[in-house]
Amino acid sequence: MPPETRPDGTPVASGLDVSVPHSARIWNYWLGGKDNYTIDRQVGDQLREVYPAIVDLARSDRQFLRRAVRYLTADAGIRQFLDIGTGLPTADNTHEVAQREAPTSRIVYVDNDPLVLVHARALLTSGPDGATSYIDADFRAPDTILSAAADTLDFSQPIAVMLLGILGHFPDDDEAATLIRHVMAATVPGSYLVIAHGSSTSEGLLEAARRYRESGAESYTLRSPEQLARLFEGLELVPPGLAPVPQWRPDPGAESGEAEIYSYCAVGRKRFPE
Ligand SMILES: C[S@@+](CC[C@H](N)C(=O)[O-])C[C@H]1O[C@@H](n2cnc3c(N)ncnc32)[C@H](O)[C@@H]1O
Repeated sequence: MPPETRPDGTPVASGLDVSVPHSARIWNYWLGGKDNYTIDRQVGDQLREVYPAIVDLARSDRQFLRRAVRYLTADAGIRQFLDIGTGLPTADNTHEVAQREAPTSRIVYVDNDPLVLVHARALLTSGPDGATSYIDADFRAPDTILSAAADTLDFSQPIAVMLLGILGHFPDDDEAATLIRHVMAATVPGSYLVIAHGSSTSEGLLEAARRYRESGAESYTLRSPEQLARLFEGLELVPPGLAPVPQWRPDPGAESGEAEIYSYCAVGRKRFPE
């Protein structure tokens, strides 16, 4: 067999397991990136066969990231972001969007995929007035994340915690809710929680999730809008509340109809004590 390469022909970084598909790399493939391997592309194509809108869903999620970060910096005055489950660098990473609006923005990225670590340099291109850092850690170790993040973020000031496309890797609702509460408890009132998550309301996407699980990749559990709403308990939802991603504060003139994009999102704000 010829040696495994990326789509641009460059060899596999040493120490990476390219026999098992990986969430970050399949996502990168759907986004048109080059940091993915044969197994990721095969599984990505199989999922697209049963749910053809998956590529639009991935792109729509990234557009939501842009709009949410723009809203948080320009309208809500947020200058600090903790982006957990960052994914492989792509166009318009969180710090690029935030620093375009507010150059002093400080961003901490967190992922547990070794390939994301290999490419983390592309996430550390902060402008001179802000800062970015990268933590190679698992969301299941929130104290490790919080203590390392404190080197870059000031926890006495509001922080936006971003969990986009990661929570499906936490099949247990209670575990996901506990981890979210743990991280949000370390933030001050006026902080935000941002979630994007595949929805269990589409047969096609449910079938894609089943096939994904069978592929040997770490499974992705879809959730209903009701389950997702519960993850925001105690927070104040920014209008329009929980919505399909294309319908969350769409750009003026953008089409918001894409009915087959079964990914939901919301932005919640931590309340000030009464
Ligand atoms: C579908 S990608 C989403 C990437 C990006 N947030 C986005 O929305 O475009 C999910 C990411 O979560 C990461 N991830 C999965 N489980 C994780 C865990 N337990 N701790 C940290 N990161 C995790 C994966 O490595 C992957 O990069």
